[in-house]
Amino acid sequence: MIAITKQITKNKLANTELSAKILQLKNEKNAVLLAHYYQEPEIQELADFVGDSLELSRQAASTNAKIIIFAGVHFMAETAKIINPNKTVIVPDLKASCSLAESCPPKEFKAFIDAHPGHTVITYINCSAEIKALSDLVCTSSNAEKIINSVPKNQPIIFAPDYNLGRYMIKKTGRDMVLWQGACIVHEAFSIDKILKLHKKHPQAEFIAHPESESQVLEIATYIGSTSGLIKYVKESQSQEFIVATEAGILYKMQMEVPDKLLIPAPANEDNNCACSECAFMKMNTLEKLYQCLKNEAPVVDVAEAIRKKALIPINRMLELSK
Ligand code: 13P
Ligand code: SF4
Repeated sequence: MIAITKQITKNKLANTELSAKILQLKNEKNAVLLAHYYQEPEIQELADFVGDSLELSRQAASTNAKIIIFAGVHFMAETAKIINPNKTVIVPDLKASCSLAESCPPKEFKAFIDAHPGHTVITYINCSAEIKALSDLVCTSSNAEKIINSVPKNQPIIFAPDYNLGRYMIKKTGRDMVLWQGACIVHEAFSIDKILKLHKKHPQAEFIAHPESESQVLEIATYIGSTSGLIKYVKESQSQEFIVATEAGILYKMQMEVPDKLLIPAPANEDNNCACSECAFMKMNTLEKLYQCLKNEAPVVDVAEAIRKKALIPINRMLELSK
């Protein structure tokens, strides 16, 4: 027991030293650290801004910093690079991908578009630059409804890559959209049976969910929204208890906002010993990798100029429509 306590204290000290070095480098190099809510708490603590995908894109579009360090997944950093071709965009781990982005390869997606001529192509921001370059509009989970409704009523739409968000949006907007069959490995793992069982133990708790969750999960939610939307809802709701269906990293900032409320992570299917769901891609980023990436200004995120120019158009449309 004493040995474990000693080890924890040692790790904490090492993290504090590393955090101090990161902050110093960040200042010296005029770098801005943008972090998603799914990052480890020690990374969120160092960030200049923590937010959802839309807010992080907005921050990337407005920063004066020379270097953007993106603590999130690859498509988020890539979006920052598309918006800022002249800035250096670095990430702690280039391999931090996303199952949704991976589910949509450009060649297959181009064939899908060709098979549906005359459709407006709306893609969820969780996709690669190549996919964005094939799109008319980009959206995030916080503005999907607005972006879809910006398309004339009689215009058919392709929505990709998230099938669950697409299906939810069909329900919300009444639009007849052709959906790509991609899914998030974290959100599709929530177990409806376990959630219902948990709710029996906490009958006062509100169940809230991210729209990447499956339809049977969304059906029982009293609120559905982006990561920022979920945090805002928990703050504003009169309820004192919540079961939260999204990646468990969100609980850190959420709990800070509502220190007296009870937040319970929604249980997932795959692991009986774990009540939470974690995105293995997001969790590839560590404090040590963050330090190394800032020190070496690598790995950098690059996008071929021809793709970047095309991908920028639907991103700018989204930013314009979400003002
Ligand atoms: P948000 O835009 O809600 O932050 O979602 C990003 C994401 O990857 C959810 O899994
Ligand atoms: Fe992608 Fe899902 Fe991870 Fe979000 S939680 S980054 S959608 S794999």
